[in-house]
Amino acid sequence: MSKHSSQPDPETMPFFEAFNKFRRLKPLEPSLGVLGFFFASVCVILFFVYLDDRAVAKGFQFPGQSERFMWLQSNWPGKHRRVEFLEEEGGGCDVFEGDWVWDEAYPLYQSNDCRFVDEGFRCSENGRPDLFYTKWRWQPRHCNLPRFDAKLMLEKLRNKRLVFVGDSIGRNQWESLLCMLSSAVPNEDSIYEVNGKPITKHKGFLVFKFKDFNCTVEYYRSPFLVLQSRPPSGALQNVRTTLKVDQMDWNSVKWRDADVLVFNTGHWWNYEKTVRGGCYFQEREQVKMEMSVEDAYHKSMETVVHWIDTQVNSSKTQVFFRTYAPVHFRYIFAMTKIKICIIFLLFSGERWGLEDGGKLPLGDTA
Ligand SMILES: *[C@@H]1O[C@H](CO)[C@@H](O)[C@H](O)[C@H]1NC(C)=O
Ligand SMILES: *[C@@H]1O[C@H](CO)[C@@H](O)[C@H](O)[C@H]1NC(C)=O
Repeated sequence: MSKHSSQPDPETMPFFEAFNKFRRLKPLEPSLGVLGFFFASVCVILFFVYLDDRAVAKGFQFPGQSERFMWLQSNWPGKHRRVEFLEEEGGGCDVFEGDWVWDEAYPLYQSNDCRFVDEGFRCSENGRPDLFYTKWRWQPRHCNLPRFDAKLMLEKLRNKRLVFVGDSIGRNQWESLLCMLSSAVPNEDSIYEVNGKPITKHKGFLVFKFKDFNCTVEYYRSPFLVLQSRPPSGALQNVRTTLKVDQMDWNSVKWRDADVLVFNTGHWWNYEKTVRGGCYFQEREQVKMEMSVEDAYHKSMETVVHWIDTQVNSSKTQVFFRTYAPVHFRYIFAMTKIKICIIFLLFSGERWGLEDGGKLPLGDTA
């Protein structure tokens, strides 16, 4: 289907004629119409799922060639030449504005070559057959980033601390960075956890040292960033723990002096991971039984921002913050979009088309 033609495609005309006739007849009970609608939706969704599997099975060429992915591409193909990030003209480039693009040169490491990956995060070893998910590279819209160079990054990290704080998404990124950096270090023994803790440990924190560069790459588990601990005395019995929305995690004293600080939070801020498990929100000494997760998230982020403003030396420490991984939800949103299109198709009898540049409203949530 082409995106912009206003003329109906001749091939699809008979369908629409038939459909319009069907609509004009209207002799059937509404329940049959609903059943038909449901059946059509299921067929179209299955068709898209089938396409997806087939594309993966073929080894998946560039997804931009697949019309199904057109709405995921906002600026393909690029008409203007992109400058290099480190060139004179590249200085003003916003590296956070861009897209994930397919790159055959990826992945940068194989998980079975890397000892830093948690068992649960080893996709290939756990039976995932394709490598399709490993071949994405971030492409800023207005410049090109230099290729990742582990030696260069280790040199830049010399005598420094790089700290990740957050949930398992942050942990994945931390492990991945350990793998990428260690690929440039031939001597395995020169990279070690400073307290001798194994990588499979799920709580607390892990500090890996690259001895030859005197740098550490650290991870602190803190899915909410603010303090989660025992409720105050006198709290109701169903309150098992509380999140102190106005108080940072106790480990934050160890984050403050990092040279690079990468925060991530978001996926735990929902009802299932908090209130349902008896974790309520607390402000000062009061448990706020009625506080919504959204309010608590909002207040906590204010606490984090205030902490960064007052505790972190901005001339020393570079702070990054990320929220949701959009890919967690993109598939669901794509499906929603398809369903909306089907509804549109059935009730207007027109062709469905995606709006200009048809980008999903998700890329900006990272
Ligand atoms: C190693 O790095 C730390 C900072 O992380 C610094 O305080 C220390 O002086 C460095 N050691 C050497 C030998 O350079
Ligand atoms: C902040 O960091 C800079 C650069 O490392 C340093 O010169 C300065 O003394 C620090 N300021 C404070 C208040 O620690």
